[in-house]
Amino acid sequence: MSASVPGFSAVIASKIDRSVQLRRSEIQGDVLIGLQKDVEFFIFFRIEDADAFKRVVRDHLADLVTTTEAVRSRELQIAAAKEAGDLERLPFVGFNLGFTHQGLGALVGEGGADGMDPSFMAGAAARAADLNDPAGQDGTLAWKPGFADGGIDGVFLLTGPLDCKDAVHPLLVEKRDDVLALAGGSISIVHEETGRVRPERGHEHFGFRDGISNPGVRGLTPNQNPADGDQGAPGQDLLWPGEFVFGYPVQDPEKPFTEPGDPPGLPQAWMRDGSYMVFRRLKQLVPEFDAFLDERGEALGLDPALLGARMVGRWKSGAPVMIAPLQDEPAIGGAPLLNNDFEFGSDPHQRRCPYAAHIRKTYPRDDLARLIPNGEGVVQTHRIMRAGIPFGPEVTEAEAESGTSAAERGLLFVCYQTSIVEQFEFIQKDWSNAPGFLFDQTRPGSDEAVEPGHDPIIGQASGAREMDEPVPNYPFGSRRSTLAMPNPFVVPDAAAYFFMPSIFALRTA
Ligand code: HEM
Repeated sequence: MSASVPGFSAVIASKIDRSVQLRRSEIQGDVLIGLQKDVEFFIFFRIEDADAFKRVVRDHLADLVTTTEAVRSRELQIAAAKEAGDLERLPFVGFNLGFTHQGLGALVGEGGADGMDPSFMAGAAARAADLNDPAGQDGTLAWKPGFADGGIDGVFLLTGPLDCKDAVHPLLVEKRDDVLALAGGSISIVHEETGRVRPERGHEHFGFRDGISNPGVRGLTPNQNPADGDQGAPGQDLLWPGEFVFGYPVQDPEKPFTEPGDPPGLPQAWMRDGSYMVFRRLKQLVPEFDAFLDERGEALGLDPALLGARMVGRWKSGAPVMIAPLQDEPAIGGAPLLNNDFEFGSDPHQRRCPYAAHIRKTYPRDDLARLIPNGEGVVQTHRIMRAGIPFGPEVTEAEAESGTSAAERGLLFVCYQTSIVEQFEFIQKDWSNAPGFLFDQTRPGSDEAVEPGHDPIIGQASGAREMDEPVPNYPFGSRRSTLAMPNPFVVPDAAAYFFMPSIFALRTA
């Protein structure tokens, strides 16, 4: 692999051994499996009294944290209840917490958080220009309060169910009040967000089923393919936990955590069993997106639903265009054993799925296998564990008719990883924002290069965005076209990078 190939970095030497032990009762529950959430409160805070807050974390909050073990038990409980035909569910409320680099500084003192991921240390606002995050004419970020000016030290995540009247469950409100009462004056709230599943459960605001394809984790995700130890559900690769949490290599199962300088490769021993979390508030301009599909679909002679599916790489039902190229197949979209079982390598001329489609940009699967040595393996070093939730109201009739958003809605995007540089930022910057990725494509029967263009969902550019759209005439070929997207349909207006420490690290803060 060459570092000069666009879209690829050399796998960084500093990235820890990925075959780390998986200590489920030490790892926060949102990281690897995701807290069960109909509703999620994000409470962004500033530390006002570091010593007092440290005591609260150590003596109280550490005990309240919902662990990976607790989330897994809960999943098994639900599965068993379902099998017994019993859909009664006890309400389950989750709590996790994370800190910005500045917040960690207040907790661990001078030098105690040195050597961490460079983008984490810089903070999301400092990284915005490099990610082409939109800024005002004077270059300032019009972000929600606290996010652009270093006002945030940490975040509380509180998750829970809706009650039988579709209101936030009182147990979740109670837990939020408890956490804030414990923290008292040691913190002040800077900003709050509430995420909530849409009435069309599991679908994001543009209407597409989300949360289908996350990586599996060895030792945690059930292997549903006994013939292949690297596979979870069909099409889901099982990765080492070290892609998402820090830890000891598996070869050292008994090594005590407190040993100085350990685990190897970690700049700070307390990072063990922790993970970096990226938060982005992504406003979605839904009526504008729908109007664009109608207008461009008509101009191209293409069903707007097919155009949307080609921009995402999946139909609204979740059916991948690689499997269902010309029309939606909801029976595939809703079936976890079918809806992720595909690769891209068999489609070098974008007949089924454009290279720029959101899911092909953000996880190109085997597309690189023919281009660079160990291409599939390299792609796996740029995976993220997504755990976001929608926010904001449904589109009103008036908004739909006018094609203009009157209210804010979108995605509270959350993802976990052990390197923000190599995982989230790499996907956003080197793939979604990079018109040249996937490089090395030629038009069928010609040497003319194809420039795939921007990811039409999240790609950000300093100028205009375009996507190569070979309008499908499957299976006979395609008509060349370029999709110009003058206005983005996804607009970030807050972002922050956090570290989610282990329970042990919180107890010994
Ligand atoms: C997959 C929508 C933001 C990375 C998906 C899917 C949808 C979707 C509908 C397909 C369902 C699935 O495979 O789970 C959106 C929307 C976004 C957004 C509407 C913004 C409002 C992002 C961001 C990133 C990202 C910011 C990372 C930079 C991914 C990845 C996948 C995915 C890695 C899975 C691809 C795969 O494994 O096949 N997204 N997404 N998304 N998205 Fe996004």
